[in-house]
Amino acid sequence: MRSGPIPRHVAIIMDGNGRWARERRLPRPLGHRAGMKAVRETVEGAIEAGVEVVTLFAFSEENWQRPHDEISALMDLLEEYIAREAQELRQQGVRVHVLGDRSRLVPSARGAVERVERDTASGAKLQLNLCISYSSRGEIARAARLLAEEVLKGTKKLEDVDEEAIRAKLYTAPWGDPDLLIRTSGEQRLSNFLLWQLAYTELYITPVLWPDFTRQTLVDAILDYQRRERRFGKVTASS
Ligand code: IPE
Ligand code: IPE
Ligand code: MG
Repeated sequence: MRSGPIPRHVAIIMDGNGRWARERRLPRPLGHRAGMKAVRETVEGAIEAGVEVVTLFAFSEENWQRPHDEISALMDLLEEYIAREAQELRQQGVRVHVLGDRSRLVPSARGAVERVERDTASGAKLQLNLCISYSSRGEIARAARLLAEEVLKGTKKLEDVDEEAIRAKLYTAPWGDPDLLIRTSGEQRLSNFLLWQLAYTELYITPVLWPDFTRQTLVDAILDYQRRERRFGKVTASS
């Protein structure tokens, strides 16, 4: 793996917790709980491989439409994950950022999110973005609104509203676009995740359900990535 290019930024749609639970005749929240271990595996595997940024889709805006019990189990798990892992993450040099509309979180979850961002702020080895209450269309609409405000105030000229200006207003602005997107559980869709940022990202879809995801699954995805030829619309020297 070391001999090929390592994706600098890996994004993951963590999907399949419900099916993992159903296969075992367990309630769905136990599938989400089992998925926490896979997050740990991902963080460790990413650090080992030399990935610099990992962006995880943990909870979408659309997921607010799930049954109340499942939502509250997911929110409890978020708080539990932060309480259990914050110290370890800090020791590993991981810096956590939460992307999305955090105003919709219950106050205790919002507090936990703010705490983990503060407590891990010195992490420099891996940037870990957790997308929670996140929707890509919502993110782009927000960027448009922020730019419109600046134009109205007169701090930005209309002709300066270009691709770069929009990019700079996305939640992901500090990190650049993902090089590799992994989706687990075999679904072949983006489900409103990073629509702008994935324009030239390599896609890797695996049938593995999220709770079964290990470092080896991550390594397999990176090895597959290393066999791709990224052209960005251009022609290569060999063609
Ligand atoms: C992904 O697993 C986790 C979240 C969306 C929160 P799902 O809960 O979507 O699992 P499936 O797709 O029903 O198997
Ligand atoms: C996408 O998975 C959202 C997350 C992984 C957080 P979903 O399970 O919500 O997506 P769909 O409904 O299969 O498109
Ligand atoms: Mg799903």
